[in-house]
Amino acid sequence: VSAPAIDAEAFYQEFSLAVGARDWRAPNPRHELLRLLVAERLGGRGRLRLLDVGCGAGVMSAHLRRYGAVTALDFSAPAVALGRALAPGVRFLVGSAAALPPGERFDVVTLFDVLEHIPPAERVAVFEQIAERLAEGGELILSTPHPRFSDWLVREAPALAQAVEERVELTDVLTLAAPHGVVLDAYETYDVDRAGPQYQFIALRRAVTPGARIAAPRTRHARPLRRRVRRGSGIARRVRLAAAAARAGRWGAAAWLLRGRGAPPG
Ligand SMILES: C[S@@+](CC[C@H](N)C(=O)[O-])C[C@H]1O[C@@H](n2cnc3c(N)ncnc32)[C@H](O)[C@@H]1O
Repeated sequence: VSAPAIDAEAFYQEFSLAVGARDWRAPNPRHELLRLLVAERLGGRGRLRLLDVGCGAGVMSAHLRRYGAVTALDFSAPAVALGRALAPGVRFLVGSAAALPPGERFDVVTLFDVLEHIPPAERVAVFEQIAERLAEGGELILSTPHPRFSDWLVREAPALAQAVEERVELTDVLTLAAPHGVVLDAYETYDVDRAGPQYQFIALRRAVTPGARIAAPRTRHARPLRRRVRRGSGIARRVRLAAAAARAGRWGAAAWLLRGRGAPPG
């Protein structure tokens, strides 16, 4: 008997808004670590064309603005509306990872904790779409739970699992990317709760010359980064974001950030 099809798109409409509202108001330790890992790759570059697939309410998309022009896409319309209200410098699109807007090329495509929520049967189409839009030499950056953490989540904490919560093996990613000449550049595991490798950071690159020899990928466990992660309620951050929103005349967004509760704008 096959399992009933899960309507992930329906599930994520409100879920992504709720999670995004939380992450705009208080720092998410996973995001904080991702910022450091991304900085190691993109630091010093400021004119890139970036596509953030599965952006949710755009907390990380807004952060990516320092590296260039950001297009951010998610199939949750309410989450995208919140992103538009809080990060007007980002071009937000409502849409599916399996149907990306045609005709554009990007230097960097990011999927931060998205692939594990895409059923394996749909991943081939998603990688085809992404590879088509990745410029020569462009980078594909993914973060997903470590497969052991996915197993633990589904087994021990199913209430925290999302509608689609599928393990992602590095080999799955390499198999999906290889037909498009997109190959591994760096692999790191990282954790937010000192509970062993919880997440994996996978950076791939589209080879400029097909068949070109690629240097051996860098692999490590990014444990020391943890010490540099900010935690806490993020009041200073909320005030900074609210001041920026007020300066831009976005009074609803500013008031919501300062209040720290109530219905999010968008
Ligand atoms: C765990 S959230 C991560 C959000 C954001 N990237 C972050 O790191 O905060 C996964 C996001 O992927 C989106 N998503 C999942 N499958 C998608 C698909 N096939 N097309 C577009 N968005 C998708 C969901 O709506 C959700 O916002």
